[in-house]
Amino acid sequence: MNILTIETTCDETAAAVVTDQLQVLSSVVASQDALHERFGGVVPEIASRAHVERILPVIDEALRKANLTLGQLDAVAVANTPGLAGSLLVGLTAAKSLALACNLPLVAVNHLQAHIYACRFQPKKVSGTFCAKHPPGRPGKRFLTPLSAVFPCVGLIVSGGHSNIYRCAGPLDFTPLGGTIDDAAGEAFDKVASLLGLPYPGGPSIERAAAGGDPARHRFPRPLLDDRARLDFSFSGLKTAVRYLVAGPGKLNEDPVGLPPQQVADIAASFQEAVVDCLVGKAELAMERTGFRTLCVGGGVAANGRFRERLEASAAEHGYELHVPPLALCTDNAVMGAIAVERLRAGEFADLSLDAFPGPERAAGR
Ligand code: KG4
Ligand code: ZN
Repeated sequence: MNILTIETTCDETAAAVVTDQLQVLSSVVASQDALHERFGGVVPEIASRAHVERILPVIDEALRKANLTLGQLDAVAVANTPGLAGSLLVGLTAAKSLALACNLPLVAVNHLQAHIYACRFQPKKVSGTFCAKHPPGRPGKRFLTPLSAVFPCVGLIVSGGHSNIYRCAGPLDFTPLGGTIDDAAGEAFDKVASLLGLPYPGGPSIERAAAGGDPARHRFPRPLLDDRARLDFSFSGLKTAVRYLVAGPGKLNEDPVGLPPQQVADIAASFQEAVVDCLVGKAELAMERTGFRTLCVGGGVAANGRFRERLEASAAEHGYELHVPPLALCTDNAVMGAIAVERLRAGEFADLSLDAFPGPERAAGR
């Protein structure tokens, strides 16, 4: 089966064609970074308008690269939750139109479940070399991590819009355990980058700046890290701590560009370390609480090198299995929409009444 997957939850317009054997026939991602850069973050209305302009050319390109026509598709899948309302609607409308016009089954994709499913596309690495069972290579059937190696797991999704921890019994069976009570981790990266005069998206900019900085130079707060009763995050106070350091307590920083480069590097490195401490600390707590032996991490922040390094060290120290997607599949993409295969297998089809659910999902009682 050839499945067209569509992803427009935030600011990437993406489409891919995957088979029911999880071979990736094509993947196209049209980034909107250049449109949002001068605002230091995603502007929802600009994002949805850009999706409208790009969605058809992106789908067209995905089909062309896969060397397929619309008539050779067997299903169309679309991420309908969570995300920005206007952005979600563009992908959803495109998918429904194709399903109706081409008489194709329609499959709903949960964007957060898809971020975790992307871990299947990374062959397992053991001590810096690839193990014989899972050799490296292009994503394709031979290089998939088996479903049974990924689930059950603790799923940690850290992106621009989400920082959530789930108990994942299976690819479609997620129970929220906790999440951020204010900013998402990626959002904090983006806002602190803007405070420091670094370009959007902030995650990669902070990571680059941090490479030349001292992570111990500033001791920023690690909110909620010591509260072992909660699997929650809070990043907005950390962001304020950076602002007060840069501008002085209670003040706005009017001129971020005036900061000396070494100071920017030290703040970036110290901030990154604080975020990573919180993420790794709560991931370890979730592993302890659930008793699971596998941790899967997804979302844009999972592309951060320091975070990946610290996760690997934690997995080695505590003896659990760690799965992180390849870099290109950490940030938003449509390949991870391959999770639609699991829904197809379960016979879970959507119909034309499928709606967009912006979210966010919260843990029980919050
Ligand atoms: O998953 P994603 O592409 O979109 C959402 O669903 O939000 O995540 C985007 C977020 C942005 O906030 C970006 O700054 C962050 O991921 N990000 C990173 C890195 N690359 C992207 N954060 C830290 N380090 C990175 N290398
Ligand atoms: Zn995402």
